[in-house]
Amino acid sequence: MLQSFNPKNKDLKVWVNDGLYHRDEAKVSVFDSVVQGGDAVWEGIRVYEEGVFLLDRHLDRLFDSAHALSFVHMPSRDEVKDAIKKTLEANNMDRDTHIRLTLTRGRKITSGMDPRLNQDYGLIVLAEWKPPVYDNDHGINIITSTIRRNSPMHLDSKIHHNNLLNNILAKIQSNVAGADAALMLDAYGFVSELNGTNIFYIKKGQIYTPHADACLPGITRAMVIEICKDLSLEITEKNCSLVEFYTSDFVFTTGSMGELTPVNIIDGRSIKRNKGQEVFDKIHQHFEAKIKNLCVKL
Ligand SMILES: Cc1ncc(COP(=O)(O)O)c(C=O)c1O
Repeated sequence: MLQSFNPKNKDLKVWVNDGLYHRDEAKVSVFDSVVQGGDAVWEGIRVYEEGVFLLDRHLDRLFDSAHALSFVHMPSRDEVKDAIKKTLEANNMDRDTHIRLTLTRGRKITSGMDPRLNQDYGLIVLAEWKPPVYDNDHGINIITSTIRRNSPMHLDSKIHHNNLLNNILAKIQSNVAGADAALMLDAYGFVSELNGTNIFYIKKGQIYTPHADACLPGITRAMVIEICKDLSLEITEKNCSLVEFYTSDFVFTTGSMGELTPVNIIDGRSIKRNKGQEVFDKIHQHFEAKIKNLCVKL
């Protein structure tokens, strides 16, 4: 397993709705929509010594997701920022921290699917001591899952919602196979993303990534695309088949949880890291260099 209990997180203070609670006391109502239907939106946000990374982009996606799901009650952006600031201060967190920020449709007056039963919103700021979860020096091994990533035909992946069961089923398949993560395909069999990260490959010096049709348009993914453009590296978003990944020079994943992570093996095929390593190193160095300019102190 990639993660284990970190004793530094034993006495975490967690923001739930109106204040901070010890992790053992931090609870949501049984009437909350996140309990009843996974009816919530969320962001995973990293904190570095320089501050909270790309906070406004994460808040834009959070509020866009809530708007797309037609949430009526919502906190203001300043209220969310204030809850994050108070949570980080209460835990003395100023680096190596991962925030799981959740906005729910709130409590219902009685159980039921109808959002008109909701009277308020729920806000959770769970900040934990958590350095990047993958071994970015040695890379990860992945398998392809039989579980397809949501497409706009079903539940648009551009909404960052808490209905994570298809990703969890994919992760179970990777656990059973002894791999670190599961690659998910779209409805047509093209590669979409992993169960919790986006994916890129490098071939003959050019970089490719799947269209954001069935994958989450990740904030780290967007940053890598920007970096490639800054460095005049050719980056193409296209339909990518599994075979293109198997036969590429380098594969890496992106996400707030693990940053940039090389992939060693996909479905038992080892990825030859010959020409691709140099290109990846360039992107990686620029990613690290950009971090400090993209953080905000609250
Ligand atoms: C399914 C999925 N893909 C990709 C990502 C990576 O997105 P980001 O770079 O915005 O963290 C996440 C992060 O939550 C995710 O849940």
